[in-house]
Order: sequence, then C-alpha cells, then structure tokens
Amino acid sequence: MSKIGIMGGTFDPIHFGHLNIATAAKSEYHLDKVIFLTSGNPPHKRDKQILDAKIRHIMVKRAIAGMDGFEASDYEVNRPAYSYSVNTLKHFKEVMPDDELFFIIGGDSLRDFHKWYMPEEILKLCTLLVYNRCGGRHTSDFSKPISGSTIDISSTEIRKKLENGEDVSAFVPHSVLEFIKRNNIYRKKLRMEEQLKTLLTPERYAHSLGVMETAVELAKIHGADTEKAKLAGLLHDNAKNLDNIYERAHDLEVDLDEFEMKSPPLVHAKLGAETAKIEFGITDPEILEAIKWHTIGKPDMTLLEKIIFVADLTEPGRNFPDAEPLRKLSRENLDMAVAECIRSTIEVNKKRGNPIHPNAFAILDEMNKKE
Ligand SMILES: [Fe+2]
Ligand SMILES: [Fe+2]
Repeated sequence: MSKIGIMGGTFDPIHFGHLNIATAAKSEYHLDKVIFLTSGNPPHKRDKQILDAKIRHIMVKRAIAGMDGFEASDYEVNRPAYSYSVNTLKHFKEVMPDDELFFIIGGDSLRDFHKWYMPEEILKLCTLLVYNRCGGRHTSDFSKPISGSTIDISSTEIRKKLENGEDVSAFVPHSVLEFIKRNNIYRKKLRMEEQLKTLLTPERYAHSLGVMETAVELAKIHGADTEKAKLAGLLHDNAKNLDNIYERAHDLEVDLDEFEMKSPPLVHAKLGAETAKIEFGITDPEILEAIKWHTIGKPDMTLLEKIIFVADLTEPGRNFPDAEPLRKLSRENLDMAVAECIRSTIEVNKKRGNPIHPNAFAILDEMNKKE
C-alpha cells in the first residue's frame, strides 16, 4: 500500500508556493508520491479568463520534471465540464484501490468544506491535508495540517507581474518561466483584431477578415452558431506567419502526423488551435477544432469545421477560376462544397508536384459512401 497525495489546482501558472506545499506534505506525511491535478476548463465565463487547461498542464509537467515522487495528472484537463472533487477522488480510488489517498487543499477551501458536494463521501475516500495561505490558520477535527507551508505569492500576482514585465524568477521555476516567455503567455494582449494584426502580414489579415465574413454568412445559411463562426474564421490562420513552427509545435505538444512533420505549410492549423488559446484566450473546443482542421480537413467534420474549411477557399479575396461556382455551391450544399474544395486542392497540389494528405482521400471516400 502506498500513500498518495493529490493536489488539485488551477495552476495558472504553477509556482514555488505549490511546489513547497507538495514537498512539505510529502515529507510530513511520508507520502510516496504527490499527484498534481490540473483543473479543467470552467464553463465559459466572460468575466474570469483562465488559460486553457492543456497549456496549464504543460507548465505543471515542466515544473515537476525530474523531481522524484511528483507526477502530473491530466484527468480533469480532458474533462469538459466542472468536476466535483468527490468524483475525481473516486476515480483515483478505482485506479489505486489499495493505496491510501491524501487530498491536499487550502485552508480557505476548508472553511467552505461543508458546502462541497458530498463532503462525508470525500472524507471516506481520503484524508484531508490542509495548508494555509499568508499566515491563515484554518484547522478542523476532520483534517490534518501541513505545518511547514505558507505561501505568500499567488498565481494572480504572478500574472500581474508578468503583464507588467516584472521579474518573477523568484516565484516560478526556470523551465516554466522560459516556456511562458517563449510562447507569449500572460503578456498584455490587445483587442482581438489588433492582437491578430501583430501576428499576421497585412495580406493574411485581410484574408482572415474575408474568411470571417464568409463563415458568418455560411453559418446563417446552414444554421451554425454565428458567433463561433466569426471567431473561428477570424482566427483560423493566427499561426500562419509564425517563425520556428516546428519548435513551437513541439513546445505546445501539438500532435503532428508524419505528413505534417514533412509539410511546413500544414503546421499552422494544429499549431493555431494552441496559439489561439494563448493569444486570444479561446477555450471553446468547437472553435479550436475548426481552426485545427481548416487546412487538411478530416472525415466526419462538424458543421462549423466544414464552414471554416470551405470559407477558407471561398472568401471574397480568392479569385481562382472556379471560385464563383464554388461560392454558389457552398450556399446550396455545404457537403458538396467540401468535396469540391478537396478536389480542387488535390488538382492544385498535383500540378505543383506536392504530395496530398491522406485525409483528403478519406473525406472523398466518406462523401462517396453517402451518395
Ligand atoms: Fe490556413
Ligand atoms: Fe486561411
């Protein structure tokens, strides 16, 4: 039987305060390991902007890399909705039925513990270990204190300092700080259009506006969410003019296939889904997926994915010979327009001697089966 500590948090970003608490809990309660559990994306709230869970989780992994007895779990990262602690603890109990669980929480959370979902059930599953922030003293008869642990810095303060260009190397591990700087995270951002202009050439920006307009028009015709179409259209090419795309993709753990590894022009789509989180605070999976698949497409695309895929080729700035008939078709039959876009892309690439991504044929196969 092992003793396992579980420390949940938003980790936006993770800092030495978190690491100190985990270290103290580990030594005071002889834990075999502490699992850092990054919280998932909260339901969309406009007032409180939290960095996308996957990016926060990458920072956690970087912070604990090489540290003995620390692990990072993406259990909540990959869950769309808010997760109750009791369900998360049940999951870990199922995965590690013979182990003893310790749930590490802050004193401020302990104060509201009776309001949590199923508190009695939580106490049956684990021992609560409590740390206090800034000299607070919250204790109870149903929890145990972590003594050597007060944190006098918060993620909020760190984000503010980073926005103001202040030095935070005393609070954030070096590897995390380097990641933050390389990827432009927590830097003050401009209004969406202005921010996009800083990333794109004027031509690419004009094309983006065109795709946005066309996507909104197609969304109205085919019954998709126009707000999502607007954002996905505007931002679909946000990574198009970035340098060092393969380094960036590796850094942000973008899952590139063999084909994309050899074709630089394709990388901006999947990379753009990650940079849209950082540069524009997008966390909506539908928008992110539409950005991700706008270049190569895939079988079983959603309505929004099809719209962005087609709008990319039919926006007003495109003037290849068949652009106009394709525009007409896109309003009448979106699936047929997708197929036409693929056929014309295959033609163009064949003429240029470029290889063709296998997804193109998979989509055409899918269409043929439907007919
Ligand atoms: Fe693109
Ligand atoms: Fe584009």
